[in-house]
Amino acid sequence: MVRAQFLLLSACLLCLAATSVRDGVYSKAQAARGKVSYGQDCAKCHGANLEGGESAPPLFGPEFQTKWTGRTAGDLFNLILKTMPTDDPGSLSRRQCADLVAVVLESNDYPAGPKDLDSGADALAAIHIEPKK
Ligand code: HEC
Repeated sequence: MVRAQFLLLSACLLCLAATSVRDGVYSKAQAARGKVSYGQDCAKCHGANLEGGESAPPLFGPEFQTKWTGRTAGDLFNLILKTMPTDDPGSLSRRQCADLVAVVLESNDYPAGPKDLDSGADALAAIHIEPKK
């Protein structure tokens, strides 16, 4: 019984913790840091301003947001961690990937907040991607 109550309480805390990319989940300083890695590792394919290139898609805009709606910041993070850059996948640290997700969020005009985006899997999985209003 105590255990059941505990489970219920944890489930509730999890739902309270669920947030959206509209809630200011990264900081401006983090996005600025991410921009430096972006320039080194991503711009040659995705363009200097994430606009996309000959072989790589844009990383902002209504189409990008629609495609990612219903998924989480953790999904975006994992895609970058495991598959990007396509010419050297697996070369980025978790911290670099969190900074790069911040760049993508900033470019999609989601607001910055007081804290850096956490690179922990649980924190990332609780942040839902929604279209910009
Ligand atoms: C050598 C070229 C290349 C580099 C460098 C590269 N990417 Fe990509 N990226 C691609 C291609 C190609 C795709 C599309 C893959 C697919 O559709 O399967 C892609 C897809 C993506 C996506 C998913 C886009 C979507 O519409 O869902 C993200 C996010 C992304 N890249 C982020 C990054 C980041 C961040 C970096 C820098 C660490 C990076 N990429 C570096 C080629 C590249």
